[in-house]
Amino acid sequence: MRAIVVTDQAAGTAGMTLVERPEPQPAINDVVVEVHASGYVPTEVEWSSTWSDRAGRDRAPSIPGHELAGVVTSLGYGTTGLSVGQRVFGLADWHRDGSLAEYVAIEARNLAPLPGGVDFSVGASLPISGLTAWQGLFDHGRLQAGQSVLAHGAAGAVGTMVTQLANEAGAYVIGTGRAADRDKVLDFGAQEFVDLETDALEDVGGIDLVFDLIGADIQKRSAALIKTGGTLVSVVGPIEARPAEGLAVDFVVEANRAQLSEIVQRVRDGRLRTNIGKVATLDDAVATFNSTERLKGKTIIRLRP
Ligand SMILES: NC(=O)c1ccc[n+]([C@@H]2O[C@H](COP(=O)([O-])OP(=O)(O)OC[C@H]3O[C@@H](n4cnc5c(N)ncnc54)[C@H](OP(=O)(O)O)[C@@H]3O)[C@@H](O)[C@H]2O)c1
Repeated sequence: MRAIVVTDQAAGTAGMTLVERPEPQPAINDVVVEVHASGYVPTEVEWSSTWSDRAGRDRAPSIPGHELAGVVTSLGYGTTGLSVGQRVFGLADWHRDGSLAEYVAIEARNLAPLPGGVDFSVGASLPISGLTAWQGLFDHGRLQAGQSVLAHGAAGAVGTMVTQLANEAGAYVIGTGRAADRDKVLDFGAQEFVDLETDALEDVGGIDLVFDLIGADIQKRSAALIKTGGTLVSVVGPIEARPAEGLAVDFVVEANRAQLSEIVQRVRDGRLRTNIGKVATLDDAVATFNSTERLKGKTIIRLRP
């Protein structure tokens, strides 16, 4: 099969190559999926899980890409709940070969059925951004209707999901970003926009839930805005600043079939819009990831038309 591999951590994305690799075999409780569309996170080459397995052994050359949508082609021993020919989407294990390949072996529990009317590119755009937003707001942030959410990076892949899901849950959403992001953030449903480059963040007042996608100084300033009993949720590494009278949680997104199904149902009935940026073929993928063009929204690699 054709796959993109990375072999040299120091080379980063520039070290990516499109090569021939053996097709993966399904292990216990796995399925093999013929990948139709794949998502890739630009920072993957910096993650230790791209370079080692769970026992810490070197696994290069490794295949990046952790979001996928495709069709099940075979089942491993003991696999239940999915069948050959089924359309699926989901989140591939951080420590295994991923979805920038024509086929991927993946635990069935990491996948959910992809409804017939939902395009593979849409399916591949949802797992990381949708699950991160869902888990941050509801599992870790325990968001309630009527609360306020400060959604940083609200024009980005995760931020647009945070904004929409928080809005649907009855929260008051203040989205942040750069000046050029204002219309997009308001269009995705934020009630207010804060331009982090020129507006005073401190003017937003007391916040119940800060969803941090930026970190550093923005995180420190945001922690000070959290009301008593409120929560700072971050996905950009260990917490650097804690709210005085609230909780702080940082987490890495996990696969969850029930949540994937909730998310795709919302896409199907129009409650949730995706934020897909560039769509490229596998042949163009390495050039796309190495482009000097600033990629906005979720980049999707389409492996089959
Ligand atoms: N721990 C986890 O499980 C997890 C899961 C998903 C994502 N993440 C992390 O979360 C972050 C966001 O992911 P994403 O996919 O949503 O990225 P993205 O699509 O690039 O969105 C980030 C948004 O934040 C904006 N932004 C960044 N720094 C800013 C600043 N200083 N001032 C104003 N706006 C700023 C970006 O604007 P520009 O494009 O103009 O810079 C962009 O609109 C990444 O670091 C990613 O690795 C972690």
